[in-house]
Amino acid sequence: RPHLTMDAEKGLMLEGVALAEIAADLGSPVWVYGADTIRTRLAALRAALTKAGLGGTDIHYAVKANDHLAILAVLAAAGAGADVVSGGELARARHAGIPAAHIVYSGVGKSFRDLTLAVSEGIGQVNVESREELAMLSAVAVAAGRQVDLVLRVNPDVDAKTHAKITTGLAENKFGIAWAEVESVYAYAGSLPGLNPVGLAMHIGSQIVSTEPFDTAFARMAGMVARLRAAGHTISRLDCGGGIGISYEAGTGVSLDDYAGVMAKHLGGLGLHLMMEPGRWLVGPAGVLLSSVIIAKKTGNRDFVVLDAAMNDLVRPAMYDAWHGIVPVAAAVAAGPQAPVDIVGPVCETGDTFAKDRLMPALGPDALVAILDAGAYGAVMSSTYNARPFAAAALVDGDRWTTITPRQQVTELWSRETVPAWLTETAG
Ligand code: LLP
Repeated sequence: RPHLTMDAEKGLMLEGVALAEIAADLGSPVWVYGADTIRTRLAALRAALTKAGLGGTDIHYAVKANDHLAILAVLAAAGAGADVVSGGELARARHAGIPAAHIVYSGVGKSFRDLTLAVSEGIGQVNVESREELAMLSAVAVAAGRQVDLVLRVNPDVDAKTHAKITTGLAENKFGIAWAEVESVYAYAGSLPGLNPVGLAMHIGSQIVSTEPFDTAFARMAGMVARLRAAGHTISRLDCGGGIGISYEAGTGVSLDDYAGVMAKHLGGLGLHLMMEPGRWLVGPAGVLLSSVIIAKKTGNRDFVVLDAAMNDLVRPAMYDAWHGIVPVAAAVAAGPQAPVDIVGPVCETGDTFAKDRLMPALGPDALVAILDAGAYGAVMSSTYNARPFAAAALVDGDRWTTITPRQQVTELWSRETVPAWLTETAG
């Protein structure tokens, strides 16, 4: 994590800014993202693709990973398009300045209303997941008087070897068109008015940390492209989806060169316009969640450190047993002798645990820690469970930083709620 450094005096720095300074100003918990880190990662991905001879690949950032307008603006300015999965994400991406033509619309359940919005805005591509959706999209296109470019999201039945809750490319998963039906569905797409089938899409899962599942899936996709072409169909685009994993723990994660290598091996020579939809890889390592220790308590022979961040802020450990690095922000604290502790949040659930038996230096009340690799699937999955307001967020960009979301006020928690008058009317 080259963007995170420890300064002997200022403590942990993200790019050129001391994280302690942000927490002192905004309080905790607070999300902090590094703009320059995101740009550098996008450039590294492009460089790996170019090196593999795939320089023309279009990158559509998967908005779901982190949909903050400031993050979208950083990526839009760097020329990335967007992959959206709802009318809400489409509106966000457009609001952040991403042209509709540079947006692809994925998702297993696109509503008539959201498809209508997408088509009327002039969406670049719809990734269609079923025969039923094709019929709906055709009706929408005809009503809008438009011709819509679409690709079929197919299910290559490949085990991504990731967490079961984020595996999407197995035949038993709800996603995509079954392998055996792809040819007939493609022909059906071509027969419907308003539709212009231009290729295929796949996405086999997220946080994939070996190239093997990609290798298998890309090989199958190349075979499918050949089969469809042999049947007389035009296949000009192939969307490879997202899924590139990051190393939450040292020594895991997939190398970009290896990923681009398997992509080039199977898909490079086919005259396809290639696309991809990375989310986590671009923004995950660029974000941290800063949190302060509320209390350190001992029960029996276990040591607990209770943070002011909880599962409502970052749900990944509770939901997927995800591992996140946790480091003290102050250099003097970080240098202390280590002992195993359980690091938990204050929410009333045992699952509200960030780390078990983690070797940490002694953390007293108010000690500030950074939960690492929290830039993807962090703030976007937050809730206000236990009436805990949404945390603040800040953006660092080199040596400067600014607030990009103020902390939610407690009164905002109920500001959209109404109590029926009859419940509060006094009798008589
Ligand atoms: N494209 C499609 C169609 C997707 O469904 C996804 C993620 C992506 C692209 C981006 O995948 P990425 O490059 O970020 O792996 N909340 C989970 C991850 C869910 C991913 C859902 N789909 C987590 O916190 O690990």
